[in-house]
Order: sequence, then structure tokens, then C-alpha cells
Amino acid sequence: MKKITGKNFMICILCITFIGTLFYIANIKPDDEQRIPPVDNLSNINILVYMKPTNSYESPFLKEPVTEILTGDKNIYFLETSHIKDKNEIILNPRQGCAVESAALMNPTMKVYLFIFNTNRTLNYSNETKNIVKQLMSYKNIAIRHISLATYFENSPMNKWWNSTRGPNSSQWFTSHMSDVLRYLTLWKFSGIYLDLDVVIKKSLEHLTNFVCAESSIDVAAGVIGFDSLDVGRRFANACLYEIITNFRGDDWGYNGPGVITRTLKKICNTDIVSEMTSDRCDGFKVLPPSAFYPIRWKEWKQYFNIENKKATMKSIENSYAIHVWNKHSQSTAIKVGSAVPYAEIANQYCPKVYNNCGDTF
Ligand SMILES: *[C@@H]1O[C@H](CO)[C@@H](O)[C@H](O)[C@H]1NC(C)=O
Ligand SMILES: *[C@@H]1O[C@H](CO)[C@@H](O)[C@H](O)[C@H]1NC(C)=O
Ligand SMILES: *[C@@H]1O[C@H](CO)[C@@H](O)[C@H](O)[C@H]1NC(C)=O
Ligand SMILES: *[C@@H]1O[C@H](CO)[C@@H](O)[C@H](O)[C@H]1NC(C)=O
Ligand SMILES: *[C@@H]1O[C@H](CO)[C@@H](O)[C@H](O)[C@H]1NC(C)=O
Ligand SMILES: *[C@@H]1O[C@H](CO)[C@@H](O)[C@H](O)[C@H]1NC(C)=O
Repeated sequence: MKKITGKNFMICILCITFIGTLFYIANIKPDDEQRIPPVDNLSNINILVYMKPTNSYESPFLKEPVTEILTGDKNIYFLETSHIKDKNEIILNPRQGCAVESAALMNPTMKVYLFIFNTNRTLNYSNETKNIVKQLMSYKNIAIRHISLATYFENSPMNKWWNSTRGPNSSQWFTSHMSDVLRYLTLWKFSGIYLDLDVVIKKSLEHLTNFVCAESSIDVAAGVIGFDSLDVGRRFANACLYEIITNFRGDDWGYNGPGVITRTLKKICNTDIVSEMTSDRCDGFKVLPPSAFYPIRWKEWKQYFNIENKKATMKSIENSYAIHVWNKHSQSTAIKVGSAVPYAEIANQYCPKVYNNCGDTF
């Protein structure tokens, strides 16, 4: 046996170091999203503790939380997060009810979930809300669930983060940022389609999967997001959660909603330019044009409440999947039921029960 000389030994060490470095480099994935291990068995995490509404909308909460397993990709989710901290009543306004009804009406084969987040199990629906909920409960494919925030984050990569000092508590816009975070967490937990509550759905969304919608030629919005439960959807869901946990900003309103999906797209599609985010470049993920879900830009929100340009407005929303009425800007502009403005006409057609049972004002 030849003795290993000092020189040979050094060469061996260098070789091992070199090969090791090659392996190391080959294993570094360019995308941060790889650091959250993908969950390959969705049914294992489809468990949530929540408060289920009883058949009576008089007293919505059960005495004890129950567990339910949600399955399938054919689900639509609406998240009511604006009353997380309320101590009085649970409120769902007619426009929110309209969004839920329209989704159910236009997608009879899909299940539409409305998750209402609040931890106070002694609360009741407000009188107006009871009426809206009654209309929604007449649809077989609508399910309303009352969810406690803390349990929703359990068994998720966000469990430590959400109640830490770097989490939503640090935010100047708690409600809005919680809504941003919960939409990504929901699609990570269940997959399907997330929708904002200030939309009216006009078409079937059944064939849409792995998609978002651009708001303009330079911005992607987060008002509608679809992730499937397979490779592409899982990859995006993991990447979005990772992006939030590492880069959440409580001091920037838009950073955590549209920002999360935009930065994730930039990484996965390897381009900063929205028009270059084609399905080919983005592993099959689609960025739909603004005309699909935001046919009227937010600066033009008054068009939905305006009778003068009605013909032009109706023409520009003719082929869209939905209208998005930009609640942040439009919420205090009232509509009299029976009015002929575009929003009223669309509501009458796509959410007839809520629209015609909400009193004088929609
Ligand atoms: C996924 O988990 C469920 C529930 O724990 C189990 O019944 C099923 O066999 C698992 N599927 C796979 C592919 O591991
Ligand atoms: C829950 O709601 C009840 C009834 O409004 C109220 O008295 C109570 O203080 C609330 N509890 C919490 C923890 O907010
Ligand atoms: C909620 O409604 C139930 C049943 O009508 C009633 O007993 C209870 O007092 C109500 N709770 C509050 C906080 O008003
Ligand atoms: C709600 O309705 C009940 C029964 O109709 C009534 O007693 C109560 O005063 C109403 N509450 C409000 C806040 O209007
Ligand atoms: C959230 O954090 C606070 C302060 O650290 C702690 O007192 C509280 O129990 C936490 N809540 C949950 C639900 O983990
Ligand atoms: C976040 O705020 C809630 C009250 O809004 C408080 O109960 C909780 O302890 C806070 N968590 C942290 C980590 O400060």
C-alpha cells in the first residue's frame, strides 16, 4: 500500500472541496420559494377549526368549534376580514352579499365559501346582515364559515410570524394587510380561486386555474388569484407565503397584496415586465389582461355609478368575467335599488336575491 503523502493528501482535500462546492452550487435554487418545502398531501392540511353557522342565522355560532375538511380545486373563496376586531355585531353589506351570490349563481358546479374572521363567538349578525345571509343560504353551493384567526394560522408556515412583532400587528393598515395575508394563506391551505368582495361575477370561472389579472400594463392586482393543488399552484402558493414572511412591510399599503404576487411572478417568470409574463415564461401560470376582471380602472370607478356614459361602460364590461367596483373608493357612493346605473343593472342581473332583498339602498 502506497502511503498517502502530504502532497497527495492536500490534492485529495482540494478535490473534495472542489466537488463539494460544485454539488453545493448545483443545489442552490435561484428562487427563494424552494426554502418552504412543498406540501404534497393537501388533504393533510385541509383541516381547520372554525365555527360553523347553524341553520339559524339568528345565532350564527355553534357552542363548540368543529373541524371540517375542504377538498377539491373547484372552490371559490371570499374572505371577510374587516370585522376581525369588532366587538358588536357581524356585518355583511349588500354589495359583499352580491359578490358571493353572483359567484354561486354563475358557477353552479363550484362551491363558494365565505369565510368571516372574528374570534368573538357571542356575536350575532346585524339585522340587515341576517337578511343578506338568509338570501345566500338559499343557494346550495354557498357555505358561510366563521373562523378564528389564531386557529387559521396553526399548522402553517405563518404560525410563528403572524402574531410576532414583524407580523400584521406592525401594520398601519391592519385590516387591509390581514386581508392580503389571508388570501395567500387560504390558497396555500386549500387551492382554488380567491375573489375580493367588491366584485360581481358575470361568467363561469370553472376552467380558470393558475392565474391572476393585470390591472394595467405595468401592475398585477391581487383581487382575483387562482392556484391549483398541483405543481404550479403549489409552487406559487409556497413562494407567496415565503415572500410575505421574509419581506412583509407594515408601512407600505400596496407592498403586501399586489406586491407579493408581482414579486413572485418576477422571480418565477424571470422578467420585470408584465407584458412579458406569458404562460410559457411563467411555467404555465397566466396573467390575464385587465379586461378580464378589471374592465374599468380604479381611477374611473365612478363609471359604475354614472348614468351618462352608461352605453360606453356597458360596452367595455360586456365580455369581462367580472366587474370590480373598487370599494376603497366607491363604498360611500350609495345606489338606490331600482336605479339604472351600470352597477345596479349588473347587480339586478347577477345577484337578484340580495339586490332585491336589501331594502332601499344597495
Ligand atoms: C394523504 O393524507 C390522507 C389523510 O391523512 C391519507 O388518507 C392519504 O392516503 C394520503 N395520500 C397520500 C398520497 O399520501
Ligand atoms: C364579545 O362580544 C360581546 C357582546 O357584544 C361583548 O360583550 C364582549 O366584550 C366581546 N368579547 C371580546 C373578547 O371582544
Ligand atoms: C344573539 O342572539 C341570541 C339569539 O337571538 C340572543 O340570545 C343573544 O343574546 C344575542 N347576543 C347578543 C350579544 O346580542
Ligand atoms: C333588530 O331586529 C329586532 C327584531 O326585529 C329588533 O328588536 C331590534 O331592535 C333590531 N335592532 C336594530 C339595531 O335595529
Ligand atoms: C400573541 O402574542 C402575544 C404577545 O407576545 C401573546 O400574549 C399572545 O398570547 C399571542 N396570541 C396568540 C394567539 O398566539
Ligand atoms: C397583536 O395585537 C393584539 C390586539 O390587537 C394583541 O392581543 C396581541 O397580543 C398582539 N400581538 C403582539 C405579538 O404584539
